[in-house]
Amino acid sequence: MLNKLATLAACLSLAVAIPFASTELEKRQMPNYPDNGTLVNPPNVTQFTRPNPKYTTDQLNQVKLALTAVERLALIKSFGNTDDFFKFDLTPDGSHSNAANGLGGQGYLAHVGNYPVLLGTGLSVAIGYLNPCGLDSIHLHNRATEMVTLVNGVSLKTGFVLEDGFDLPVYTEIGLYQGTIRPMGSLHWEFNDHCVPAVFVASLSHEDPGVSRTAQNFFINPQEIVEANLAYPSWLDKVNTTDYRALLPAAFAQGAKACYQRCGLTYDTNQAGGISK
Ligand SMILES: *[C@@H]1O[C@H](CO)[C@@H](O)[C@H](O)[C@H]1NC(C)=O
Ligand SMILES: *[C@@H]1O[C@H](CO)[C@@H](O)[C@H](O)[C@H]1NC(C)=O
Ligand SMILES: *[C@@H]1O[C@H](CO)[C@@H](O)[C@H](O)[C@H]1NC(C)=O
Repeated sequence: MLNKLATLAACLSLAVAIPFASTELEKRQMPNYPDNGTLVNPPNVTQFTRPNPKYTTDQLNQVKLALTAVERLALIKSFGNTDDFFKFDLTPDGSHSNAANGLGGQGYLAHVGNYPVLLGTGLSVAIGYLNPCGLDSIHLHNRATEMVTLVNGVSLKTGFVLEDGFDLPVYTEIGLYQGTIRPMGSLHWEFNDHCVPAVFVASLSHEDPGVSRTAQNFFINPQEIVEANLAYPSWLDKVNTTDYRALLPAAFAQGAKACYQRCGLTYDTNQAGGISK
């Protein structure tokens, strides 16, 4: 999942330069959906909703310099309220962690860059909120194996392709409270083929998992290379691959058209926004 990591990283490097002020927290406790928030049933603000704090560059540098876990945790504890620095809110209102967007839903990721207590732990975690018929489009994680667990909804259809030598897709449909593995580096996807939303938790075996969206990172320049890679198919004759890339959907895309038809929902053909800036 999560095509906007690069953008996220860029935002974070800006965000961390701004010192965390206590007045900021109150402001950020207001509902803070992204402008392009697309969730049909977003998580509600509750008494526990608490936007994630920002960190100063100095704080992050200190965390990196701490030699032991004891030093590191004591340092982070000294930053302020443990409900800020030890908790991570993976809802739209948690802010600063939106890592995937699109008409199919939204994803939020706690990783070492926005939740530095993860440093040295080798793990990160995401929550994906999929709209009815939403698709977490084909992608891979560069440094992490992932376990996807469905915690709300009916089922998720999933698939992965590992590598040369084992390149037939492995399909799995998981029900509520069931999980499935996406091995590190495998191309994979999750599709909510239902008329109700789905929520999944993604546990990732690296604090900086990385993500590479397959279609977005395939339709690149030069066009000649892309065409040669595909043996010059006639359907590419009139296509400019650079222009085509700009039309790809964002990370959380709309899924199969048949689902939209069955659910009486409109399939929006204009989903552009999937390329990383
Ligand atoms: C948010 O609250 C409304 C009203 O109580 C409810 O219908 C909806 O299902 C809630 N959303 C979630 C994601 O729990
Ligand atoms: C594709 O279009 C872009 C502008 O959108 C242009 O710069 C590029 O040269 C075109 N590529 C080919 C192979 O015509
Ligand atoms: C969502 O909005 C933000 C800020 O307005 C923008 O940076 C981002 O590109 C948008 N994402 C999509 C998928 O349109």
